[in-house]
This record gives sequence, structure tokens and C-alpha cells, in this order.
Amino acid sequence: MSMSKLGLMALWTATTFTLAISGNAQDLGQVVSESDLAKWDISIGPDGVGLPAGSGSAAEGETVWLEQCSACHGEKGKGGPAGDLVGGIGTLTRPDHVKTVGSFWPYSTTLYDYVRRAMPYYAPGSLADDEVYAVVAYLLSQNEIISDSAVMDATSLPEVEMPNADGFISYWPSPETEN
Ligand code: HEC
Repeated sequence: MSMSKLGLMALWTATTFTLAISGNAQDLGQVVSESDLAKWDISIGPDGVGLPAGSGSAAEGETVWLEQCSACHGEKGKGGPAGDLVGGIGTLTRPDHVKTVGSFWPYSTTLYDYVRRAMPYYAPGSLADDEVYAVVAYLLSQNEIISDSAVMDATSLPEVEMPNADGFISYWPSPETEN
């Protein structure tokens, strides 16, 4: 590599790292505010602990779905470029198994956590809590796990039994079997 190229690279590196360091330095030593912390404190347990207030139905979810999700995941949750979220139930023991939210995920509550945290892909965190409940209801009803008219909220969602709920074993001893 020529000296001038090396020089340019060194300049680029120095500039980049200086920018990165000065960017972070502004935040160092600052106490995190409750509202900033709340944006990160969004984990939902398998039993639904942490689910927010609000609710949504599959019909409301269809609107969210068509506007924000179907381009990547297909019109009804199948056949899109980002993979199927619907179908495959009962196929997991077959060589041609289809893993989807419906066939594979053991907890309905994970769907809320995942969608709120990570989707839509280019605007994660942009959905209102009611919209997340609604689109979760839509996906569960498309998978025929709940009825079309069921409303999902912090009480009803954890009660939804997923088809693959017993398909996982835990490496860690549960509190009951420990000791
Ligand atoms: C721009 C494309 C895009 C859009 C729009 C989008 N997704 Fe996704 N979605 C993806 C991709 C890519 C993945 C895989 C991400 C990964 O594995 O890291 C994914 C993964 C998922 C998964 C996890 C699937 C699994 O089995 O692991 C769910 C659930 C999901 N999306 C729901 C939604 C919902 C609900 C919406 C609308 C609110 C949405 N997505 C909008 C691209 C998209």
C-alpha cells in the first residue's frame, strides 16, 4: 500500500475514533433519567410479567399488518421475502418441517416482546402498545391458535397456549427440581 493511502487511512481512523469518543464522552457521568431507562426496560417474561396496559383484536391487527408488515412477511403471514410467520403447525418432527411463530415458538408472550422491540424491521419501537397487541392477535388468529374475535391484553395473551409449548427442554433445573 502506498504511503499516501496509509496516511489517508490513518487520518480516517483518527477522525472516526475521535468522533466516536467525543460522542460517548458527552454521555459519560450523566445519570440516566427514568424515561430514558424505561425505553430499555421492556422485557416480557414467558408468564406475561411486564406486559403493558392496552389491548387489540385480530381485525385491528389486520390493518397494522397490511400497512407495516405484509410487504416483508406476506399478505396473510406467508410467502413474503422475510419468511413465514404463519403455518407449519405439526410439521416439526418431519424432515420438511416449517418453523414459524405458530409452529415453533413456545410462548405467546414472546411475540409481544419481539414485535415491540424489533419490528417493523426499519422502524423498531414505532408501534403503539395497542397496535402490538392487535398485530399479535392477528398473527395468532392467522395461525388458528386463537379465534378471529379474541382480544389480546395483559391478561388474555399469557393464557394463550402455543402448539409447541411442550417442545422444548430446559437445560437449567427448574426451581422445583433443584437441590
Ligand atoms: C422490511 C421488512 C420487514 C418488515 C416491514 C417487517 N419485518 Fe418482521 N422480520 C423481518 C426480518 C428480516 C426478520 C428476521 C430478523 C432476524 O432473524 O434477525 C423478521 C422477523 C420477524 C419475526 C420473528 C420470526 C421468527 O420466527 O424468528 C416476527 C414475529 C416478525 N418479524 C413480525 C413482524 C411484524 C408483526 C411486522 C409488522 C409490524 C414486521 N415483522 C415487519 C423483516 C420485516
